[in-house]
Amino acid sequence: YKACCPFHQERTPSFIVTPDRQTWHCFGACATGGDVFAFVMKKENLDFGGVLRLLAQQVSVQLEDKAGGQKERLYQINRAAASHFHWLLLSSQGRDALDYLKKRGLNQQTIEDFQLGYSARGEEMKSHLLREGYPVEELLTAGLLVQGEEGEPRDRFRHRIMYPIWDASGQVCGFGGRAMGDSMPKYLNSPQTPVFEKGSILYALNKAKNAIRQVGEAVIVEGYMDAIAAHQYGYRNVVASMGTALTQGQVSLLKGLGQSFVLALDPDVAGQEATLRSLESAWNVFQRSVVAKPRGVSMFDTRGQASLRIARLPAGQDPDQFLQHSSEEWPELIKQAEPLVDYVMQALTARLDLSTPAGKAQCVEVVFPLIATMDNPYQQDEAFHKLAALLGVDEATLKAGIGRPRAGREPRGTPRKAEVSASALASAQGDPLEEHFLSLLLRFPQKKIETEVLSPEHFLRGENREIFTSWIKCSTIEELEGKLDSNLVEHARRLLNRDLPPATGKEMEQAFLDCLHRLEERRLRDIEQALTSEVLEVDEATREQLIQVNRKLTQIFGSRPASKQGEGDER
Ligand code: UTP
Ligand code: MN
Repeated sequence: YKACCPFHQERTPSFIVTPDRQTWHCFGACATGGDVFAFVMKKENLDFGGVLRLLAQQVSVQLEDKAGGQKERLYQINRAAASHFHWLLLSSQGRDALDYLKKRGLNQQTIEDFQLGYSARGEEMKSHLLREGYPVEELLTAGLLVQGEEGEPRDRFRHRIMYPIWDASGQVCGFGGRAMGDSMPKYLNSPQTPVFEKGSILYALNKAKNAIRQVGEAVIVEGYMDAIAAHQYGYRNVVASMGTALTQGQVSLLKGLGQSFVLALDPDVAGQEATLRSLESAWNVFQRSVVAKPRGVSMFDTRGQASLRIARLPAGQDPDQFLQHSSEEWPELIKQAEPLVDYVMQALTARLDLSTPAGKAQCVEVVFPLIATMDNPYQQDEAFHKLAALLGVDEATLKAGIGRPRAGREPRGTPRKAEVSASALASAQGDPLEEHFLSLLLRFPQKKIETEVLSPEHFLRGENREIFTSWIKCSTIEELEGKLDSNLVEHARRLLNRDLPPATGKEMEQAFLDCLHRLEERRLRDIEQALTSEVLEVDEATREQLIQVNRKLTQIFGSRPASKQGEGDER
């Protein structure tokens, strides 16, 4: 059989199924194929075990492997519990609960689709599941019962609206239970069990998968009700993070389904410290696991850059309320979502006093890591430009202070924080450019030969000038430390140990040249300024000097225009 490939857009079929061999193959963009397991793995974005369980369930095959045995049992118990909760909701005991859901705008179909339920008072679930033949120990493991300090295990969920939680393959792995009134806690969730770990599950993903793949975009909301409302109004690419900061585990579930991600946060929490932190980590998690495309991605693969954007909800409305009020405006709201970096910068503007050095440093500390990990050098440059403008800081200063952000280089566990707080912006009295240059020079003594073009006057600050001139005459750090005034030793050590962005030899080379360029240019500008200043007498010597420096600059940097700064790291 021949068909248009289900995994990529095409007009001419290149997807072949060979029944004799029970295989499929895409000869187009995917250039891959396999058997039914490979197909479902790709289609459902599951690992092999997940596919196995999914298919086994579909064809009613009992999986018997020992390791999976316990999990199978837990899924089975959860399934039984979910259907009993659902039954209770529709029974007379669940009348109030059902009323509540209807009042919140959910229709019958949605209640069915999401198998919403009600946990009755008393030991309803315990007696039901014991009757069904499940032993108490297993019900405890499944988290449906709790063992108190003393006495018999009791029902965990009582008199709550029940939301079954599915994993990506559609198995019920846990529950969320919402209090009906104002009783606390508002939500009670299943504890961690062998099949339920809150941080690696996205609520409603099993229902959203196909839509996400179709539109290439996933919308992530916080709450169960937000996701359910979105699906009810036909926006099926919506999943819920269940109130936690987005985790690596959750993002890896979305990997491969789309390239565009939008976070629709409750407006009251947006802009809060914790939220900004979690956005920062979400960004890192995204950059790491979504952007990192395998090498040799087909040239026909038209998926673009992965992006993470933030949708701005009207004050006082969470996604659920927004949808209930104005569901038809949802697509526009999502379309208007801003790139994360822009959003964070705006939020910080409102929260920090960016006219003070401390405010600037704090802002850099949050924003820079976001920029540093950007994969697209053009976006990166633009964001960097915006940051400099926002802070009212010269771009060159900013770059020298924190190291040039580099495309796609954020190795796991790199302490970006340390690097950023070592930023010269934090200590207003230093000279970031000189210090950055000296850090490089102290670490790569072989570069000393290339500093002939520099004179001591290129260093405006005495301590840096001293270290520079001493270092030129020394061959080891020990020798330098012996030579320097004891008060300068610590400064030299700090420069030597300063965090530099990770770089290849070639990038380091370029960074070094860049610094040379800037030091030279800075001096040139100073001379120029002096020369053109009304206050100063223009003497022949200065004019001559200017011409010389200009000539030297052209000679060293060839055709590169002196006025353009900060270019070249990527070249
Ligand atoms: P919200 O407090 O925003 O609740 O928490 P909600 O989803 O809007 O619920 P309604 O509209 O008041 O009914 C967002 C999510 O955070 C998790 C739940 O997953 C919830 O959906 N959460 C919240 C908890 O796990 N425990 C809590 O106590 C509160
Ligand atoms: Mn809500």
